Amino acid sequence: MNVAIIGTGYVGTVTGVCFAELGHNVVCVDVDTAKVDQINAGIPPIHEQGIPALLKKHVGKRLRATDDYNDAILKSEVTFICVGTPSGDDGRIDLSIVRSASKSIGKALAERCVDARYAYHVVVVKSTVVPGTTDDVVLPLIRENVRYGGYGGYKGYGGAEEVVGVTMNPEFLREGKAVHDFMNPDKIVIGGDIRAVDTVARLYKNILCEITRTDTKTAEMIKYANNSFLATKISFANEIGNICKKLGIDVYEVMSAIGKDFRIEGQFLNAGAGFGGSCFPKDVKALIGRASELGYDPLLLNAVIRINEEQPMRMVKLLANRIGDIRNRRIAVLGLSFKNETDDIRESRSIPVIRELLNRGATVAAYDPLASENMREVFPDVLYCDSAKDALDGADACMIMTEWTEFGSLDREFDAMRDVVVIDGRRMVSLDRGVYDGICW
Ligand code: UDX
Repeated sequence: MNVAIIGTGYVGTVTGVCFAELGHNVVCVDVDTAKVDQINAGIPPIHEQGIPALLKKHVGKRLRATDDYNDAILKSEVTFICVGTPSGDDGRIDLSIVRSASKSIGKALAERCVDARYAYHVVVVKSTVVPGTTDDVVLPLIRENVRYGGYGGYKGYGGAEEVVGVTMNPEFLREGKAVHDFMNPDKIVIGGDIRAVDTVARLYKNILCEITRTDTKTAEMIKYANNSFLATKISFANEIGNICKKLGIDVYEVMSAIGKDFRIEGQFLNAGAGFGGSCFPKDVKALIGRASELGYDPLLLNAVIRINEEQPMRMVKLLANRIGDIRNRRIAVLGLSFKNETDDIRESRSIPVIRELLNRGATVAAYDPLASENMREVFPDVLYCDSAKDALDGADACMIMTEWTEFGSLDREFDAMRDVVVIDGRRMVSLDRGVYDGICW
């Protein structure tokens, strides 16, 4: 099938190369011409395992990029909206990019629909949007622009609903494993009317996975409920961990045992510095925002966020308990990305920690295998080191913020510190000397 993908961020890029790998012809659309040129030259616009090889394999053959909506959409049967849905200042979802993409798609479809041969086209919302958005925001904007498009729209071919189908197909991709997750999903959810859902389902026909068919609102909620539940598991583990710490109990032993209960399951129970990334914090806050608009006070979801925001400050408190005044002390921060195997620092738990350390007058020496350049834009005054050993050299204390595997084998490197004081936010090391404090253990 011929597919247009609007937006070349994480979701758009992964979706584009994976559909090409599944045998479809893909055109990626972005208003940023630098990104378009990059993709056409075979250079990945994001850091993600598996993307370089797939891009190289398909670019110029089954995959290309353009900044021309009309060109992409006129030649496609399905268009995916994969643009960003950032949080507004109050945590509520900002739909401005989704709106403008919907208008542009509608205008492009107006031209396409002049010719009855190409009439039926399905628009798929893959961006994470609060329940109701596809039906109440995207669909009307597309129909309106198809109807009044510059070329007379679909005049003579019945209602816009006959020529444009709109569906919602959420993604559940983990950064760092997104290509694997796309190709081996545990669920595919498609919301919309039968004809539109059938069309989108055909795109996934070579993937062995049951398709959950539902309406658009439910598909949107499945995405929020999925992420909110995972975030809740993490905050739950952190809350139990904070209590365990006071009681001298190892929370990892506790979680490992309760994870054996098939009703609980062992994943996402790693207590520590909390969750970051482009999804969990934003999605939980967006659901809180939508619930509040509807007059419902989401007690549990608010607590999930609050626990998550307090974890990094707990680490700074543990540090101060151990070394006293932080001013003019050199603190090594190991790990800057929000999790391992990515250079993404969005909502990374290291950000509030570094901010607090700098506010208190510390010198921060940081190391991350991938994310230093991204963090430099946030904190230009941090000393960015080329190895964990360099960051630890002469440090008064060390804070471990990200679960990079290499931190697990650190040992003698700690001896280069002025004092061996380690505050571990990810249960990465065990030390038989100096001071070692786990955030929840
Ligand atoms: C997440 C979801 O997993 C994915 O399905 C969704 O579509 C996008 O959001 P991602 O943001 O890539 O994916 O990261 P994930 O691997 O889920 O981890 C999120 C955060 O939770 C990280 O900061 C990680 O360190 C933290 N985490 C994870 C914990 O603190 N404890 C855990 O047990 C698991």
